[in-house]
Amino acid sequence: MQLLSVASEIYPLIKTGGLADVTGALPGALADHGMAVRTLAPGYPSLMSRLGRAKSVRRYDSLFGAPASVLAAKVGELDLLVLDAPEFFNREGGPYGDPTGTDWNDNWRRFAALSRVGADIAAEGVKGWRPQLVHAHDWQAAMTAAYMRFGPAHAVPKVVTIHNLAFQGRFGADVFAGLGLPPEAWGVDGVEYYGGIGYLKAGLVSADAITTVSPTYAEEIRSPAQGMGLDGLINGRADRLHGILNGVDTTIWDPTADGLIARHFSARSLAGRTANRRALEKHFGLDQDNAPLFIIVSRLTWQKGMDLVAQAIDHLVGLGGKLAVLGAGDHPLEGAFLAAADRHRGRVGAHIGYDEPLSHLMQAGGDAILIPSRFEPCGLTQLYALRYGCVPVVARAGGLADTVIDANEAAVGAGAATGVVFPPADPLALHGAIARTIRLHGDRAQWQAMQRAGMRADFSWSHSATRYAALFRSLVQGAA
Ligand code: ADP
Ligand code: GLC
Repeated sequence: MQLLSVASEIYPLIKTGGLADVTGALPGALADHGMAVRTLAPGYPSLMSRLGRAKSVRRYDSLFGAPASVLAAKVGELDLLVLDAPEFFNREGGPYGDPTGTDWNDNWRRFAALSRVGADIAAEGVKGWRPQLVHAHDWQAAMTAAYMRFGPAHAVPKVVTIHNLAFQGRFGADVFAGLGLPPEAWGVDGVEYYGGIGYLKAGLVSADAITTVSPTYAEEIRSPAQGMGLDGLINGRADRLHGILNGVDTTIWDPTADGLIARHFSARSLAGRTANRRALEKHFGLDQDNAPLFIIVSRLTWQKGMDLVAQAIDHLVGLGGKLAVLGAGDHPLEGAFLAAADRHRGRVGAHIGYDEPLSHLMQAGGDAILIPSRFEPCGLTQLYALRYGCVPVVARAGGLADTVIDANEAAVGAGAATGVVFPPADPLALHGAIARTIRLHGDRAQWQAMQRAGMRADFSWSHSATRYAALFRSLVQGAA
């Protein structure tokens, strides 16, 4: 089966978060199910520079006013179709904004262009290759489904995956005239959203199936509290909604073979973790001791509950814990972590920025990872942590709730516990969880049992890829 995936990020070429990890890993996982995935992605500089030999397979004299072409190339195992549109994507900065983090004001056009091209490929194919199904990720690609539905590729099955409902791609109604959609696409059953335009909304009403990245998140977004304005629409399409958990790319995240850590280790032999811990302490200027070492690898944002952590640091240090933070995001939060590192020399360290290799060392050397998210569609860092024997301490939300087993009496007794789970958005609950984690860490045998249970849990893609494959197959058969 031939599939087109459309995405604004793909690891290892362009990544701001878990979306890239997923779009980078899913093609390989689906290949095991006889599915050949080609991914359409924007030609950002980081991507263009890695393409090597590429072949132009489609050309536009004017794509939303700019010349563009589609290049076919292989990078590693990834089979890519790259939208080379320099006017839209050849820019300094991130995929969505300038170097200061401000969103580009023509994002509506940049990602409409990506989606339009996705729909064109669905309709006409490239050089004899034509997808039997299109899989669009998040708001940046969701309009693919709308362009397909209102165009010649309407019969090709389309799946939209919600990685994060908080980002919806909302623009003013004035944008509609520039989208090149027929008049009937305007309206509650089309792209119109609260008087403006919603890209994710347009994708969700157009898709044959909607997926979320965890089963619990699929339930949560059906409530007004978590539906972010889309719960009505999602409930109306609940029969097409599927929660499929993300997996771990075990070729990249494997403590027995990871080239980015100081020493390898396994569930059977945890001893190698100590060398990683020392390297980590050194990097962050932390005291070299065996006090419980918490880590954070995260966007520093409200979603991730990072303000709650900033407020809990003195408590954590007071109980004898240490903390190493790797993250970037909201400037006041970056400042708060830097200030805490200053205040608690040797006990708290902060590395502001994005550093993929360091993120591996942290999972390999930390005792526990703190993830107090207010909401979490899936979360990948807790999965990497489980694999690396770094015990996840997580809020009971979305995919965190689906993947971590709390160390309550019953779970500990059964040898099933893998972490600490607490109610979200509650500063006192976070304090309690930190205290509980430190107590658990004090019982070496029990702690190691938790580490091993986590390391042995299977969060590879195999189970989830089976579910995606079954869904895709049923849609393609239904369309035939
Ligand atoms: P989200 O996509 O909401 O940010 P996820 O947990 O799904 O959250 O994925 C985050 C991904 O980004 C993980 O691969 C994590 O290791 C990585 N990551 C986040 N912040 C950083 C950072 N500052 N440096 C390196 N990697 C990071
Ligand atoms: C989003 C979510 C995160 C999820 C990731 C990959 O960024 O915030 O929870 O793991 O997408 O699906």
